[in-house]
Amino acid sequence: MTSSLRIRVPAPGELPPFVELVRSTFDAFIAPDCEAIGVRRFRELTTLEGMQARLGAGYPTWIAECDGRAVGFLQVRLPAHLLLLFVHAEHQRQGIARRLLDRTMAELAAKNDPPSELTVNASPFSVAVYRRLGFREQGTVPQQGGIPTVPMALELGSRN
Ligand SMILES: CC(C)(COP(=O)(O)OP(=O)(O)OC[C@H]1O[C@@H](n2cnc3c(N)ncnc32)[C@H](O)[C@@H]1OP(=O)(O)O)[C@@H](O)C(=O)NCCC(=O)NCCS
Repeated sequence: MTSSLRIRVPAPGELPPFVELVRSTFDAFIAPDCEAIGVRRFRELTTLEGMQARLGAGYPTWIAECDGRAVGFLQVRLPAHLLLLFVHAEHQRQGIARRLLDRTMAELAAKNDPPSELTVNASPFSVAVYRRLGFREQGTVPQQGGIPTVPMALELGSRN
């Protein structure tokens, strides 16, 4: 199913289908657990202009395409906070998030002054996934801006 999968850095003009992917996956998997303000804040975070600006500012950004279709998106806020990681529902559990993360960790590790860890505010749905990817819980913050989150971190160099 993922034989034609391609992971790469996008050009700014290629982001519109990934904005749609991120927002529709958020609506399906995360929004039902959020307060209205959390949904609004997520929409503000995921405007096309915002995603393009972060890409243009050098924030690590990786896309996954299957047969040319947008199926995965990852964006990191510098220095090392995983801001967005979304995989289309029909393509989940096929290793796409792991591959997006592999490319990101290699990019971060290649920096002149590499960060010691990558942090994330995990959605409740994704905590089990992040554990499998090597992240560990950092404590409990039930809500951040109307979105339920679990702070987690992954040490650079801790994955095999
Ligand atoms: C979280 C998400 C990005 C994972 O993407 P994915 O491509 O399905 O993940 P992978 O296939 O790379 O799986 C990574 C690991 O997690 C495991 N995993 C995947 N989905 C899982 C699930 N629903 N429950 C438990 N484990 C799961 C996989 O088995 C794999 O572990 P393994 O390699 O040791 O077998 C995807 O499910 C998603 O977009 N969810 C909705 C949005 C979301 O919550 N994003 C996170 C925002 S913080």
